[in-house]
Amino acid sequence: MDYRNLNWEDLLDQLAERSWLVLDNFLSLEELNALLKEFEQHRKQEDLRRAGIGNAFHYQKDKEVRGDYIVWIDKEESASHTWSFYQRMLSFMGDLNRGLLLSMKEIEAHFALYPPGAFYQRHVDQFKNNGHRILSFACYLNRNWQEGDGGEIEIVDGDQIVVIPPLAGRLVLFRSDLVEHAVLKTHKDRISITGWMLDRPIDLPIHY
Ligand code: OGA
Ligand code: MN
Repeated sequence: MDYRNLNWEDLLDQLAERSWLVLDNFLSLEELNALLKEFEQHRKQEDLRRAGIGNAFHYQKDKEVRGDYIVWIDKEESASHTWSFYQRMLSFMGDLNRGLLLSMKEIEAHFALYPPGAFYQRHVDQFKNNGHRILSFACYLNRNWQEGDGGEIEIVDGDQIVVIPPLAGRLVLFRSDLVEHAVLKTHKDRISITGWMLDRPIDLPIHY
């Protein structure tokens, strides 16, 4: 599905029926370049931290499960294009709420870097981490991604496994409670913004 000639009804149908979808060209080239620049700024400032699994009570860093480095998008501190992207996702969430009769209220999101060799084992987002996650998204910032670079997101759909390369500007959206997925081992730096639309405001310290 291509964001540049989007049929909103098709999008809603796909999400409702299949619980996941791929939207190409969600980012313009300008947005992509601006977001990459702001990500590189984070990398330079050494803001990236090893990602963990679990929640505040059962927290662990286990590179056998996931090997990525993240920096949360924070309302106050985020650089301007990152903040515009976040706002854009909030407004997209509003459209999805109206289309699917949901009442998602907030978004938590982070940049993620998977260095060569990193992966994320198969999992479901809601139960691993946070029961308030309704829809998950991953938006990819990888220019010139080639076949053989790895880093695909693998989505389990019934008895089918769908393998989707993390191409620049692509957005993958799926239900946090249902859709099992994995990030296959990458052979190059793999950069994304990953986020979750939540059914409650962020009022608790859920970023650790
Ligand atoms: C996650 C995740 C998928 C991706 O961070 O929970 O599954 O394609 N990310 O980056
Ligand atoms: Mn996930």
